[in-house]
Amino acid sequence: MSKEAFQEFYQEFFNNSHLQEEVRVVTTIKEIIKLGKKYGYSFTQKDIQAANADEQGKPQTSSLNKVSDVIPRQIGTYHYEFQFSEIPRFEEIAQEFEHLKIKPDTVDINLYESSFREDDFNFASVSPTSPEFQPQYDEIMKPYLSEDTPLPEHEYMMRQFHLINLDLHVEHPLYETYFMHKLRLIGLLSKFFGTEVKFSGSLWYPPKGYRLWHTNEEQPGWRMYIIDFDSPESELVGECFFRYMNPTTKELVTLKDKPKLVRFFKIEKERDDLFWHCIVNNTQANRWSFGFLVTDDWMNQIFGSEV
Ligand SMILES: [Fe+2]
Repeated sequence: MSKEAFQEFYQEFFNNSHLQEEVRVVTTIKEIIKLGKKYGYSFTQKDIQAANADEQGKPQTSSLNKVSDVIPRQIGTYHYEFQFSEIPRFEEIAQEFEHLKIKPDTVDINLYESSFREDDFNFASVSPTSPEFQPQYDEIMKPYLSEDTPLPEHEYMMRQFHLINLDLHVEHPLYETYFMHKLRLIGLLSKFFGTEVKFSGSLWYPPKGYRLWHTNEEQPGWRMYIIDFDSPESELVGECFFRYMNPTTKELVTLKDKPKLVRFFKIEKERDDLFWHCIVNNTQANRWSFGFLVTDDWMNQIFGSEV
């Protein structure tokens, strides 16, 4: 295990187009470490950090970090959403997506349930502009911002993150097949958009799952989320929603989640323009959502000149 092993893996990345494709489907360090092992490189999270420290100051290589406004946004429109059936040429993608809706057996669902907090769950109703927001937000986040406090063992025990990040679960029997389907899906999506696409999150929201207010400002750009449930719309009891604060009017916008939905929104990094958003699954069903960093030109790629 060494920093050098990660640096060699990094070199291989530039020379190996299959590995480049594989890296586009991983979203966690755990997945990178596992991928490294597959290629014969043994390194830890500390080794990656040490190698990254050496790299600081060198130019960025990913074109996905470029943010430009190719799509002129209609005034006041901060999101777009479509049913799978409304998107041309989406059938194959939808079929591949079916394979990603997994429930790893390494998730302790009883522990997940006992980590639920009603007060945090209700925080989604508090606007980021209201006076009570900041104290409550600071209280929720404090343990995770301090270096002295160890992080909880599982991500779903974190107060702001009461859900399962599938990409943190790499040691269960379904992972290899899941990874293969992620790889196939990213291939289809890259073809679909005519350019590089990358996974940004692979999330399973069991009943009562929630992701509290956040901005994702560290990764600006357009996001596409593919969302589905293990229950048809007619049988969904309770509500499930994506809520955001309109960066201009500061009004809260609540978008009802439905099965087989594709949602686009744009993450901003400027302080006055931040895209505060949260997600709540208050249904009895399981919700999955898979996020992707997509080209700014996504709408033209999907609909051509029709829109
Ligand atoms: Fe987010």
